Amino acid sequence: MRTHVVDHPLVSHKLTTLRSVETDSPTFRMLTQELVMLLAYEATREVRVAPVQIQTPVSPATGVKLAAPKPLVVPILRAGLGMLDGMMRLLPTAEVGFLGMIRNEETLEASTYAERLPDDLAGRQCYVLDPMLATGGTLAAAIRFLVERGANDITAICLLAAPEGCARLEAGLAGLDVPVTVVTAAVDEKLNDRGYIVPGLGDAGDRLYGVV
Ligand code: URA
Repeated sequence: MRTHVVDHPLVSHKLTTLRSVETDSPTFRMLTQELVMLLAYEATREVRVAPVQIQTPVSPATGVKLAAPKPLVVPILRAGLGMLDGMMRLLPTAEVGFLGMIRNEETLEASTYAERLPDDLAGRQCYVLDPMLATGGTLAAAIRFLVERGANDITAICLLAAPEGCARLEAGLAGLDVPVTVVTAAVDEKLNDRGYIVPGLGDAGDRLYGVV
């Protein structure tokens, strides 16, 4: 697993406002989209392209277009939905699948409760959207699910990560013969005893959509 922390002053600037308890939900949602676009720019650095011939007003030229099969963007419900618009602005022709993950509070194992994905993900580059890489259990289960469906190249885009989550994700992916990259705006200090990232930004789903 490769972890890429996007080190850019605009990313840090937007992340700082996102973290602030003073930031209201409409601003939080807008900043999330903007931050995801910046992270997605780095996350798609290796998106597959194919050559294409075009004609400019001046001469023929060879360019590139996204290769088939199209990349698949997979937000993890609920908070990952808040990242979808930003991602689609950068990759408007990508397809979108949905994955709902839930954690069993007794076994602490994450499992899938809802999915809307192509049956066969063979050869697909998948971009998983999950704002908070906290314990790592959900993301590891989601990635394993995609690999079982045939995905062979997975990039997770997370606004924030905890060192514990990165370590658990890496352990949870042991034995998978598929490249996995995590792209994030920051790896914070730690998780607290309630599983929140510190200093973090609080509950991403609640800050995007309110407490329900
Ligand atoms: N999920 C969140 O929304 N925030 C955290 O800090 C950890 C998990």
